[in-house]
Amino acid sequence: MKKAVKDTFLAGIELQAKRIPGEYQNDMVVLGIESSCDETAAAVVKDGCDVLSSVVSSQIEIHHQYGGVVPELASRKHIENIVFVVDEAVQRAGLTLAQIDAVSVTQGPGLIGSLLVGFSFAKSFSFARKIPWVGVDHLEGHISSVFLENNSPSFPFVALLVSGGHTSIYYVTSHTSFTLMGQTRDDAAGEAYDKVAKMLDLGYPGGRVIDDLSKTGNARTIVFPRPFLDKTLFDFSFSGLKTAVNRYIKTNPDDYKGQIPDIVASFQEAVIDVLSFKLFSAAKEKKVNHVAVVGGVAANSRLREVVTEEALKRNMSVHIPSVDFCGDNGAMIAAIGYHYLERGEYSNRGDDVYSRSWVAIGKKHK
Ligand code: KG4
Ligand code: ZN
Repeated sequence: MKKAVKDTFLAGIELQAKRIPGEYQNDMVVLGIESSCDETAAAVVKDGCDVLSSVVSSQIEIHHQYGGVVPELASRKHIENIVFVVDEAVQRAGLTLAQIDAVSVTQGPGLIGSLLVGFSFAKSFSFARKIPWVGVDHLEGHISSVFLENNSPSFPFVALLVSGGHTSIYYVTSHTSFTLMGQTRDDAAGEAYDKVAKMLDLGYPGGRVIDDLSKTGNARTIVFPRPFLDKTLFDFSFSGLKTAVNRYIKTNPDDYKGQIPDIVASFQEAVIDVLSFKLFSAAKEKKVNHVAVVGGVAANSRLREVVTEEALKRNMSVHIPSVDFCGDNGAMIAAIGYHYLERGEYSNRGDDVYSRSWVAIGKKHK
């Protein structure tokens, strides 16, 4: 690999090792691989919960200039990064390749070209090493990220999944049983954050920037609509709210630039009011005492604060992964894959990637 390529890869990498590895001969050590969008990620996880290493190589710097992910560039970058990322994850875990028992990889949903890189790598790796492998759904991976933390939820629980591509609520009854209760009819919450950030020229991706800027703004300045739809259902719609922000900008062309923190704080409060309301309504409907929030938007500090406060009022336990495991990562993929691998549900040589979530339409992963 050329030095310049290796340097770019190393610059974009985030590393972490939560635990010091010990002797794991009797346990299952799974290599998790994720490449569904713009992050090349690999992790080594023992028994579906014990993270020995997690490496995420982000492509944000590349896509930033285009205001969104460019699929062709993303897949090329995955090809350049995948070997380094996996190698780094195994090394960080303090293991050799011979100590990896099985591989779990994102099979879908996502960008087909990007998925193919991780999926083909995982397939080849497992054939070369003669170990089992399984393809999993990215969404069940996000939901399983709560099991990477010490304080993991008991079953059943209700999970709010909020990311750049999805906004949905699931009733979770076991490690591999997820029932979709509702989902967005148009934009995902993360997508709305990214589009509002784009309108205000705040860069891509917009979630983190809006989160930070909102801390300096007043969320009560502008009353944006709360898109509750039917209050008894758990579907979402954020496109009208996004349009409301756009309309505000257009009707205040001279003033809005001086009000950006207030605009984004007001927008964010509207999104979070709806997310929190629907999450707790779903928990009430299913009579559960545990709720979880997962996905990239779960990193949002205000969302974490509001959901934690609301759970406390209702005497419910709340489970939100640490920020490192909210965004796309390989550890969550290893966490869900472990449960299929453990009961011998492996993937086959002829299996292929898919673009739409199987979990969201209520099918099993294979
Ligand atoms: O789960 P994820 O990494 O990728 C998908 O599967 O989509 O989520 C990415 C999304 C982006 O839309 C990004 O703007 C959003 O998560 N995000 C946030 C924050 N950090 C990332 N949204 C709100 N607040 C944040 N702190
Ligand atoms: Zn994701």
